[in-house]
Amino acid sequence: MIPLPLVNHRVGRAAVTCEYRCGDACFHDVPNTSDNPYFGDLVSRRTALKAGAVVAAAATVALPTTAAAAEPEAKGHRPPKGLDFKPVEVNTKDEVVVPEGYEQGIVIRWGDPLFPGVPEFDFDNQTAAKQAKQFGFNCDFAAILPLDPLELTGIMVTNHEYTSETFMFRGYDPNNPTEEQVKIGWAAHGLSVFMIKRSLFSGHYKAKFSKYNRRITLHTPFEVRGPAAGSDLLKTSADPTGKKVLGTINNCAGGVTPWGTILSGEENFNQYFANAAGRNDPKLTRYGVTGNATTRKWERFDKRWDLAQEPNEVNRFGWIIELDPHDPDSTPIKHTALGRFKHETANVRVADDGRVVAYSGDDERFEYIYKFISNGKMKRGNSKAARRHNMTLLDDGTLYVARFKGDSPASEIDGTGKLPSDGKFDGTGEWIPLAAGNKSFVPGMTAEEVYVFTRIAADKVGATKMDRPEDIQCHPRTGTVYCALSNNVERGVTPGKEGPTEPNPRINNRHGQVLELTERRGDALALTFNWGLFMVCGFPDDPNTYFGGYDKSQVSPISSPDNVAFDRYGNLWISTDADGKLDGLNDGLYGVPLEGPERGHLKLFLTVPRGGETCGPVIGERVITVCVQHPGEVDGASADKPVSNWPDRGTSRPRPSVVAVWRKGRRQLGEIG
Ligand code: FEO
Ligand code: CA
Ligand code: CA
Repeated sequence: MIPLPLVNHRVGRAAVTCEYRCGDACFHDVPNTSDNPYFGDLVSRRTALKAGAVVAAAATVALPTTAAAAEPEAKGHRPPKGLDFKPVEVNTKDEVVVPEGYEQGIVIRWGDPLFPGVPEFDFDNQTAAKQAKQFGFNCDFAAILPLDPLELTGIMVTNHEYTSETFMFRGYDPNNPTEEQVKIGWAAHGLSVFMIKRSLFSGHYKAKFSKYNRRITLHTPFEVRGPAAGSDLLKTSADPTGKKVLGTINNCAGGVTPWGTILSGEENFNQYFANAAGRNDPKLTRYGVTGNATTRKWERFDKRWDLAQEPNEVNRFGWIIELDPHDPDSTPIKHTALGRFKHETANVRVADDGRVVAYSGDDERFEYIYKFISNGKMKRGNSKAARRHNMTLLDDGTLYVARFKGDSPASEIDGTGKLPSDGKFDGTGEWIPLAAGNKSFVPGMTAEEVYVFTRIAADKVGATKMDRPEDIQCHPRTGTVYCALSNNVERGVTPGKEGPTEPNPRINNRHGQVLELTERRGDALALTFNWGLFMVCGFPDDPNTYFGGYDKSQVSPISSPDNVAFDRYGNLWISTDADGKLDGLNDGLYGVPLEGPERGHLKLFLTVPRGGETCGPVIGERVITVCVQHPGEVDGASADKPVSNWPDRGTSRPRPSVVAVWRKGRRQLGEIG
């Protein structure tokens, strides 16, 4: 019998996932030790004192294990367009579970060949040369760029956030990885670009060989662009220009630009760099670059991962990258104008005058949300020339960071999640400028320093510390910005760390919240905004959860929102990375209306196999795809002791994969009737 996931890790996540994905970030001190002022300062000090009592009380609350949503008709409302499905039950199955009337199929798996002549995946005979031409490991973000109006064909782009070597190699010795194992890791990072195709009668997209197919690995040249390109801070012995970087690492979420390219965030890059210990350099510690040897030991095989030999290589990661999937010969870009931090993602909105605005979050506890406004204007059209112009927009503009203000008395934000007397966690905010081109707005820092050490700049201007800003996207019709704030178990708990604030209202925040941010007057270029929490996640029978004001007896439980997406009707879709925090239940994809009487009626659409994370949802007209990242990655498991056999079954090892889900009978997703 296959054991169930262990959930005794500090934040619920399997320790092995912590180690490989984010370099055990939870076990290190939070890098943000700044004391920048914030509006909840007084209340946080007070609640920090009583935090222990509240945590103890919370621990005694009996939580349901399966608070499944009732059928929509139970409330007498017709379900909104796009959401007419019966929610699935929360579960711990080693499979993808979809609603009644839906079917599923694998689009692509780790190791599947992307080019003719490349050998089929063989778990026990993997090589770096093969991996460089196969689908990489741990897919997170995904995008589909349709190639025809019926969406029968498209270009799919996914990234490969990190490698988990203990799950990739039988008998892996973490103290003595072989050179070939390390090189397989380099080839398994990056991105994959490939064509997908389905029949008229099914939603089963399958990967195909095509002229678009491409692998981006740690050997792929990137062009560094924007105001920090060529800075001394980016120069290395291999690249004295400071303008050319090989590869991208730890790419998490991403976005599709209005001009048809892909943005992707370099997230937990810190963990790949060795020999930072003893440096006491705030430019390293502020980014969590600490310790001697790294988990993967890459520094033994290429000096660029060794800070003692290449002190600036680390500054060449932590950027937003842009890739043109339509042109397999194009050089991908690192955009320094969007700042350097643990970018989860970036997503673009076009202002009325054609300038573009990009939003991005820094995914770590107590980090910030950023906005960039371009100087240039977008050119319409699909021509290569238009795309080339539009790919310069994110190189020239102004970078801002968010400061939030609540509208309820601080005394009413008591750390439990109880709504204040005005009935909402909400308020106003402003975008604080950090730098524009070569001009810095941060005292004591040059513009170059602001771009390369953006966290330090944001500290100085008093940005608001958030609960792990994950995916952030703009509603395609209203322009309202939605940000998943995943969780923060240190808020109000760890001595010296910030307590509850109105946008981050719970101490020991295990389940996270979903933020709605509306630019003033709806103007994308505005420098002030209104905000509110659309959802305070957790179990619906916890009195301190909130689902847009909807009847909580009707909604599905949810923890740790990670990715957000929209369907063509304007409903919000949320995928989760709870890693067991929802009583050990599997992660999933949820749909929820944002408007009308059904606003907040959250329903669980699918769940992924045990140990896995639901990532990169793409909500099409007839097909939904999700990436299943790190299936079977639970403590105690390994390639020698797998606890998942998904998707190949039998005695196979789990393989991170992309899954397509469609409605039987050529009907549209969530179609009513
Ligand atoms: Fe890689 Fe922030 O999730
Ligand atoms: Ca309020
Ligand atoms: Ca994520």
